[in-house]
Amino acid sequence: MLEAVERRIGQYIAELEDRDAQELYCRLPAGKRLRARLILTIAGRGPAAVKTAAVVEMIHAASLLHDDVIDDADLRRGRPSLNALYGSKTSIMFGDVLYAKAFHELVDIDRQVARVLSHAVIELSLGERQDVLLSEQFNSDRDAYLKMIYQKTASLIEASAEAAAILAGKNREAYRIYGRNLGIAFQMIDDLLDITQSAEALGKPAMHDFEEGKTTLPYIYLYDALSEPDRRRLLALHRRPVTPESAAWIRERMEETGALERSRAEARGLIEEAIALMRREGEPELEAMARKMIERNY
Ligand code: IPE
Ligand code: IPE
Ligand code: MG
Ligand code: MG
Ligand code: MG
Repeated sequence: MLEAVERRIGQYIAELEDRDAQELYCRLPAGKRLRARLILTIAGRGPAAVKTAAVVEMIHAASLLHDDVIDDADLRRGRPSLNALYGSKTSIMFGDVLYAKAFHELVDIDRQVARVLSHAVIELSLGERQDVLLSEQFNSDRDAYLKMIYQKTASLIEASAEAAAILAGKNREAYRIYGRNLGIAFQMIDDLLDITQSAEALGKPAMHDFEEGKTTLPYIYLYDALSEPDRRRLLALHRRPVTPESAAWIRERMEETGALERSRAEARGLIEEAIALMRREGEPELEAMARKMIERNY
């Protein structure tokens, strides 16, 4: 299903006529291609859908190149990140090339599609900035967290679903809300997996959010539930290198207080809503995609 998208991205990169860009692209493993899959499932495999999927995956790849610099992450998709291999400057510059080429192609697809997707990249960039700002202190504000993950992650998934619905002449609003719920739940799960999975399983650093200062939903719920002395202990670990002992302490408190389960239930609630929406639209494949997402462990 995705070969046409891979080919299209390959062509876009070849059109840059730049050997260095070509080599850097070859060092980027493909990832799960969730956003491309979503677009093709909604809009079919015609040329406009394939181009849109290719553009979105290039935007997503650019955002990850910048994200790994922002997060000081040395592992991505099971390999050393580009910033680990060649330094931050290379990642930033190649990220810019991918963004720019994606926008250059986007303008010729469809004006509404271009508006929706380019707006999502504004949100994504603002969300990445908010993520960093929120990490400067221990954030225990759930609403601030929810708004930030909507911006940094859900906006592009929401826009992918909406853009695909536009191309297919489907009910734009229903698919947009489906994409938004899927996107928010997707980031909630990503944040859970950072705590519960190993770096090997994830293909990216584990237990890294908290050392970067990021108090994701399980940390917010944990903080809520802890006694005053344990809260002080948690605050003392914030934005510091995680040791095996401190990681174990955090995980145990999270299990014991139900913070992980509470977060998982919240993601599940959003997925249930998304499934109900697609049931109404007669889209069993999109129902299945949502269901699978909640079960993912990498
Ligand atoms: C990673 O996205 C960044 C987040 C929004 C959590 P994906 O998990 O979709 O990344 P790849 O493309 O599959 O590597
Ligand atoms: C990244 O969020 C979201 C974007 C790239 C816009 P994360 O920082 O949680 O993603 P990972 O965990 O590095 O994939
Ligand atoms: Mg990151
Ligand atoms: Mg990040
Ligand atoms: Mg993450």
